[in-house]
Amino acid sequence: MVTLRTYTLADAQILSEYIKHPEVVINLSDGVPNDYSIKDAEEFINKALNENQFRFAIEYNGEYCGGIGLDKIVGHCGHKQAMEIGYWLAKPFWNKGIGTHVIKQICELGFSELNLVRIEANVFEYNKASMYVLEKCGFIKEGIQRKGAVKNGEIVDSHRFALIK
Ligand SMILES: CC(C)(COP(=O)(O)OP(=O)(O)OC[C@H]1O[C@@H](n2cnc3c(N)ncnc32)[C@H](O)[C@@H]1OP(=O)(O)O)[C@@H](O)C(=O)NCCC(=O)NCCS
Repeated sequence: MVTLRTYTLADAQILSEYIKHPEVVINLSDGVPNDYSIKDAEEFINKALNENQFRFAIEYNGEYCGGIGLDKIVGHCGHKQAMEIGYWLAKPFWNKGIGTHVIKQICELGFSELNLVRIEANVFEYNKASMYVLEKCGFIKEGIQRKGAVKNGEIVDSHRFALIK
């Protein structure tokens, strides 16, 4: 069974272990350090809680296994009904349908509870699994921002997807 719940500081140690796995962190925004420490995790969790961010820990059969959230989009001309989705799962939990399930769930919450009309996702060019899962969840690819992102000092294309209410 897959559930979403609020983070607690007790998640920090396992969060840091899971997220810094090279096959996970390579797909996340360049702001996520490759050597993600417990202190980084604690800061992330405190910020999520203190700023009342729309972020959730993912549990699979009661076990913490990843995170998902909706973030404000910077520079969107004050559009408050559009947000960006971000998500990751620990490697041992891949390919069990969890990603598809939680992306659908948080999008429904975003549309119903946050009154969103648009949810965006930005995916590095090499992340085929994430693109495939987004399309399974109804997202449409709107285009490719050529050389639009940086990861570990490399410039890469960024594929833009969106789901509309
Ligand atoms: C992207 C991610 C969340 C997907 O979660 P998941 O729980 O493994 O996804 P699901 O099990 O729901 O679906 C995976 C599907 O992708 C397919 N897939 C796996 N690897 C693939 C690849 N390299 N290319 C294309 N499809 C792939 C699987 O076969 C499966 O398809 P199916 O449902 O038809 O069987 C997970 O891989 C992850 O955490 N990756 C690292 C972090 C990340 O990429 N975050 C997103 C940044 S944009």
